[in-house]
Amino acid sequence: MQELFCICCISVFMKKILITGWLWYIGSHAVIAFEKAGYSPVILDNCSHTSETVISGIEKILWYFPPFFQGNMGDAALLERIFSEHSFDAVIHFAGLKSVGESTKHISLYHKNNISESIVLFEMMEKFGVRNIIFSSSATVYDGKNAPFFSEEDSLWTINPYGTTKLVLEKILEDYARHAGWAVMCLRYFNPIGAHPSGYIGEMPQWIPNNLLPYILEVAQWKREFLSIFWNDYDTPDGTGVRDYIDVNDLVEAHLSAYTHLQVGNTILNLGTGKWMSVLEMLRLTEEVIWKDIASKIVPRRNGDLPICCANPEKAQKLLSWKAHTSPKQSISTSWNFLQKNISSPLSPLWK
Ligand code: WQD
Repeated sequence: MQELFCICCISVFMKKILITGWLWYIGSHAVIAFEKAGYSPVILDNCSHTSETVISGIEKILWYFPPFFQGNMGDAALLERIFSEHSFDAVIHFAGLKSVGESTKHISLYHKNNISESIVLFEMMEKFGVRNIIFSSSATVYDGKNAPFFSEEDSLWTINPYGTTKLVLEKILEDYARHAGWAVMCLRYFNPIGAHPSGYIGEMPQWIPNNLLPYILEVAQWKREFLSIFWNDYDTPDGTGVRDYIDVNDLVEAHLSAYTHLQVGNTILNLGTGKWMSVLEMLRLTEEVIWKDIASKIVPRRNGDLPICCANPEKAQKLLSWKAHTSPKQSISTSWNFLQKNISSPLSPLWK
């Protein structure tokens, strides 16, 4: 009886959060971190990119499946129902398409999916008085002038539609912060890599991978013939593109801290390591970590790519008392472990 009373007390005090777009990569790691930190997440996802692996992985780690709604964040009727049934303290907004290359080919899809649908979500938050939000923004909003290390105050400009959607959403959220008293945290991710240490969840592309490490690892698994290196004449130490790769577990730790630092206004933070790595360096390090040779070819530049994009993470480190501590070697190793443990699974019929 006493135990039942305690469980009831705990659940009353557990803060309820809505997590959008969690059944993909970063979102799935975040929901586990928030659950383990004592929050009570409710999930909204359209399942366009999820797999049996992610779903069963989450169940294996948590031993249950959190309350879940399948649908689009632009579905006003569904959102009305979710916000009426649950009293949220905050929204953590991951949902959105995220491929730089794809966005240059499907411009309006990116605008509609990322911007128009988010506007519906924001309207509903305002209607139900939920004025706390953590938003997944991106390093792609920087114009590249202050390379290699970008600070939050640096000038912004986008060279691909994906980045444009993130910049527009940051501006819309700033309006809510300024004129409606919202507490907004826009977190500009650099390049997330790695997987959960359990090996149950990680990044498993359903189609041809867009990002570097997943592609390298699929070549290592003989699913792809070779890695296309998108050119080697950039003004970088070895001529290949340079990025700041941050481990997904460090990234979600920053979200936990960001949640406790939410305050009225718009706070913008870079989430990166402050260290750089070229495409060739990533390729060589992966070969070393997984003990395999990986075939590669130099091919023309990819449309919409910046040569260099790395974080100055000092503002986030100070404000959140947080620092990325996982090495790229560890991230490659957890990603490889995850892929070895889980054979690529098709989209679940349950979640289509
Ligand atoms: C990294 C480097 C490519 C693939 C990402 C995300 C985006 C985001 C910002 C947060 C580049 C090169 C890649 C390949 C290659 N942020 N490359 N061959 O473009 O920096 O964008 O970071 O949310 O969501 O997509 O990442 O991994 O695609 O590219 O040579 O097959 O690797 O040119 O220099 P990118 P990426």
